[in-house]
Amino acid sequence: MTHPTKNAPDPGLPLHFRSCLGAFATGVTVVAMRAPDGRAVGLTVNSFNSLSLDPPLVLWSLRSGSSVAAVFRETTNFSVSVLAAGQLGLARHFAFSAPDRFAGVAHHEGLGGCPLVDAAIAWFECETVSVQELGDHLLFVGRVLRCARVPGSPLVFHQGDFGQTTALDEGV
Ligand SMILES: Cc1cc2nc3c(=O)[nH]c(=O)nc-3n(C[C@H](O)[C@H](O)[C@H](O)COP(=O)(O)O)c2cc1C
Repeated sequence: MTHPTKNAPDPGLPLHFRSCLGAFATGVTVVAMRAPDGRAVGLTVNSFNSLSLDPPLVLWSLRSGSSVAAVFRETTNFSVSVLAAGQLGLARHFAFSAPDRFAGVAHHEGLGGCPLVDAAIAWFECETVSVQELGDHLLFVGRVLRCARVPGSPLVFHQGDFGQTTALDEGV
């Protein structure tokens, strides 16, 4: 059998590259911060991931051309709210530009004034340790100062669609 990657298109082809990345299912988060002018700023992010256990580090990336790139670039703290399966509406809401995305969204304030989305299933409160411009994105690394979780099912993003997890019957 021929290996499927042998005659695969060049990864430089954006649609092909995006489609292959889409095979990797992720959770969905809202990453947020408090701007110097007091505004709560946040966006839907699925590039969030763990980086190190000791020290506790996490990472995420932000499109350099985003309307919130300038304000995030200067931030000393950010928060990550891991969305529950029932928060699909919020995932869509935070993916669109709006002057105040937190208006009407139930949230509370964490370290550094960063907003934490209510009814999420986990929260990470971070101090920014590095921001690097790589390709067309900014890579943020944060040290986790505080984190918490509650029981609940995560919202999942896979191949451009939202979903939720179902346990596999391992057939034993
Ligand atoms: C499921 C999902 C995951 C996303 N993940 C990211 C991400 O990791 N990084 C990013 O820059 N944008 C991501 N986005 C897009 C941003 O949420 C969106 O571009 C941004 O909120 C729009 O704001 P802007 O147009 O003002 O930049 C994601 C969108 C969705 C729906």
